[in-house]
Amino acid sequence: MKDFLSIEPIGGSELMSLIRDVSSLRDAIDAGESTVRAPEGKSVANVFFEPSTRTRLSFDLAAQRLGAHVITLHPTTSSMGKGESIRDTVETIAAIGVDVLVVRHPEIGVPRRVAEWTGLPVVNAGDGRGEHPTQALLDVATIARHFGSFEGLRAAIVGDVAHSRVAVSLIHALRALGVATKLVGPPAFLPTHTDLPTSSDIDEGLHDVDIVYTLRVQTERGAEIDENYVRNFQIDSRRASRLAEQTVLMHPGPMNRGVELSDEVAGSARSLVREQVRNGVPARMVVLCSILGGNL
Ligand code: NCD
Repeated sequence: MKDFLSIEPIGGSELMSLIRDVSSLRDAIDAGESTVRAPEGKSVANVFFEPSTRTRLSFDLAAQRLGAHVITLHPTTSSMGKGESIRDTVETIAAIGVDVLVVRHPEIGVPRRVAEWTGLPVVNAGDGRGEHPTQALLDVATIARHFGSFEGLRAAIVGDVAHSRVAVSLIHALRALGVATKLVGPPAFLPTHTDLPTSSDIDEGLHDVDIVYTLRVQTERGAEIDENYVRNFQIDSRRASRLAEQTVLMHPGPMNRGVELSDEVAGSARSLVREQVRNGVPARMVVLCSILGGNL
């Protein structure tokens, strides 16, 4: 793997092979037997220009588990506070001598530009409304571990689809894996151009699906949370009780507590949210390891 900027060019069979790697690594980690390592002396730089908890920490832990050196740039305390540009900043990090850059930025396309400027492999850790490919990988790995196969699965992506990079990458991945997907939310949260079925009626949207993937309302990208959204789209116990028995609930986090999911439902047995977070480390290990040339 040269870099990991987007899930879009990855076909179904390549994705399946990444998912198998993630899943066996997850088992090895759980058993305390993970032996996957990057070649000696490799280093990874985490360059996050936007807040992050689970993504940054799991890239950190993933790189450390591979035996790589990790350095982390904090834009608020770096020379960016003195006005240094993104380009100068990343070229400086490249000159220090790192092997991979993990980049998150509020603007679409920055990770790709960083790859062009530095000539280094870049992992996109989320670019504006663009993509979030490692999130999609951990999401589909979570689905695969739960259901055993993608055969016949149907998913509803619910909420602020229009502003979500998570949705963009997830839709590519589910399409590659043959999962029938619909988009559910108020008209203002649905993309204007899509070839997928859409619905603004939550009951219709939740009918006959195996996976309900809820998305955070992206207030930082102009979306607003109002009572109508909570009343009409929150998955609460009443709505959850009408789901088919096998249906699972997912959310990439961070959650707006009591908005996308009610408290009860967020912690219920249907929720795969903890599994998603847990699979973030092996997913990022697989990506970093393939880029660094280690053996999986
Ligand atoms: C997502 C992100 O930052 O894109 N979070 C994450 O990485 N788990 C989703 C979000 O912020 O809503």
